[in-house]
Amino acid sequence: MRDTSPMDETGVEQTGSTGTGAACPTPGTLPTSSPAHGAGSPSRDMVATYQVFQRVQEGVVGRSREVREIFAAILSRKHILLEGPPGTSKSTIVRSIARSMNVPFYFIEGSIDLTPSKLLGYFNPGKVLQDSYQREYFEMGPLTQAMEEGGVLYLEEFNRMSSESANLLITPMEEGVINIPRYGQVTALDGFTIICSQNPYDDVGTLQVSRAFLDRVVRVRMDYQSEDEEIEIVRLRSCTDDDRLAKTAVRVTRLTRDTPEIKLGASVRAAIDVVTIVQNLALLSDDELRAEDLADACKMALSSKIWLSETINVTPEEVIDRVIDRARRELGADFYLGEDPDKKKVS
Ligand SMILES: Nc1ncnc2c1ncn2[C@@H]1O[C@H](COP(=O)(O)OP(=O)(O)OP(=O)(O)O)[C@@H](O)[C@H]1O
Ligand SMILES: [Mg+2]
Repeated sequence: MRDTSPMDETGVEQTGSTGTGAACPTPGTLPTSSPAHGAGSPSRDMVATYQVFQRVQEGVVGRSREVREIFAAILSRKHILLEGPPGTSKSTIVRSIARSMNVPFYFIEGSIDLTPSKLLGYFNPGKVLQDSYQREYFEMGPLTQAMEEGGVLYLEEFNRMSSESANLLITPMEEGVINIPRYGQVTALDGFTIICSQNPYDDVGTLQVSRAFLDRVVRVRMDYQSEDEEIEIVRLRSCTDDDRLAKTAVRVTRLTRDTPEIKLGASVRAAIDVVTIVQNLALLSDDELRAEDLADACKMALSSKIWLSETINVTPEEVIDRVIDRARRELGADFYLGEDPDKKKVS
């Protein structure tokens, strides 16, 4: 669950808290609980902040506007809601921010099973039975740990959580404190940030997020990236040097977002899968590149990810075949193992 080591291992003094009682942070300064925090002079603080900001962008293709917005929200000590379809780099950016700032990072999948005690923590029942309630028998949950360490708590698919669990976040977000019966008060260190993500199209198992919660976050919208950026992501993630394969996988994937039979198309995640599957199919046939592998890989990668319109009586495979044909026509010579349309005209 936890991805990074705590700040206090670096010996950086951990002071201050979030919430209404905290002093106004100097603009542009990293949280004091971050080891990347400068030595105290405004110019050195700004240099440290800028270096962290540059590190965040390493390994993230494009997204400079969104990374800037998220980073500015963190510097402003705001909690953040990332909203975008699946596969639009929400987790990638949040992980990169936590890694670059070197702050404790807790990654939680939102679900109806995420009870308040899984977030907050609980008294160890065995020890309590033996020796009644003692403060040291409290097992911290990711929320209280992130608060105590000035870390980032990332709640993926936040709108799948019960409203009881979601409401638990409101006081820590607003006041930077939470009271736990028989344990006492947990106070958030400077840097404690809740980042939630949600997919605006997902309606299965999701709940309406309360206005009280929405009033305490800033929202950053994540749309699909440009075709060139998606090709770059596919090259990076699949390590392919086959340009036509990367272009074809991305075009087929993007066309699923522009097909009337498909209610919700696939993300770049599908294009990455197409490329890696084609590469492995080739390995399994003595490195022979076969055009039909592309169609097989597209069906494997895309059929579970696209969301077909309920009013249309077609199978995902039929729709994918049509999308591949359209990509072949559109890409011409750039299509994977396709024929050069100009050569065809000559013959
Ligand atoms: N801008 C990007 N730069 C580098 N890799 C990216 C980028 N966008 C997406 N990816 C890659 O695409 C995949 C999906 O991205 P990610 O997991 O960040 O999406 P997400 O928005 O968190 O999706 P979900 O809503 O389904 O959780 C990952 O393999 C990720 O590395
Ligand atoms: Mg994610």
